[in-house]
Amino acid sequence: MNLILFGPPGVGKGTQGEKLASEEGIQHLAMGDILRAAVRDGTDAGLKAKAFMDAGKLVPDDVVVAMIEEKIMRDAADGFLLDGFPRNVPQAKALDEMLARHGITVDNVVFMDAPEENLLERLCGRLICRACGFGFHRQYSPPQKSGQCDRCGGELYQRDDDREDVIAHRLEVYREQTSPLLSFYQERAGFSKIDASGEMGAVYAVLKQVVEN
Ligand code: AP5
Repeated sequence: MNLILFGPPGVGKGTQGEKLASEEGIQHLAMGDILRAAVRDGTDAGLKAKAFMDAGKLVPDDVVVAMIEEKIMRDAADGFLLDGFPRNVPQAKALDEMLARHGITVDNVVFMDAPEENLLERLCGRLICRACGFGFHRQYSPPQKSGQCDRCGGELYQRDDDREDVIAHRLEVYREQTSPLLSFYQERAGFSKIDASGEMGAVYAVLKQVVEN
């Protein structure tokens, strides 16, 4: 099974994508996580990406397209869930060409949407484990022990780009560059739009049903 999840920052792509990919036995390829790992490791791509990410801007297409192709070819023989890629129409076209070259098809494209007030609340309260990357939310999915990951005991932190000024810029970039993906994908077989404004478990149930149908 090969899936694409797209939607605005904070809509829950990472939270839902990780769970779905794990249950379906496919690889969760989250572009933001791949880029943050490259920044941490100090790779050439990471060095190029850092300033764009800190400012809430998109990293140049050639950098992300090369990174995702490598990941798909190396790690996703049993299927993939793309989260955060593509993020504009040129990336979507590059993905189509790349997959066609490798004889790979996409089964479902799911657009997750929620009102901006939900997105802001979710991003401002997000906490992430430094050690295992698992995500929490101060209000909606708080850790049992403050500042500590339930899964591995690692330290929880707030992402640099989850500051209100950067979030505002990410939302602007989303409206201008990512939302046109809706027209790009909506006529395709396997396209669905889901309301992701509800509680996490309810959103997951709808996502799972859409994908399994
Ligand atoms: P990336 O890391 O992909 O950030 P994003 O798309 O802005 O998405 P987020 O990770 O912020 O949100 P999410 O939808 O995954 O929400 P989550 O599940 O965590 O990208 C970061 C940066 O990298 C970009 O700004 C850009 O610079 C660069 N980049 C990435 N991809 C790129 C590309 N293709 N091209 C160029 N540059 C690229 O949920 C958020 C919070 O809400 C969590 O705390 C969660 O617990 C909570 N939550 C989730 N669902 C619910 C719910 N239903 N109810 C209540 N709380 C909820």
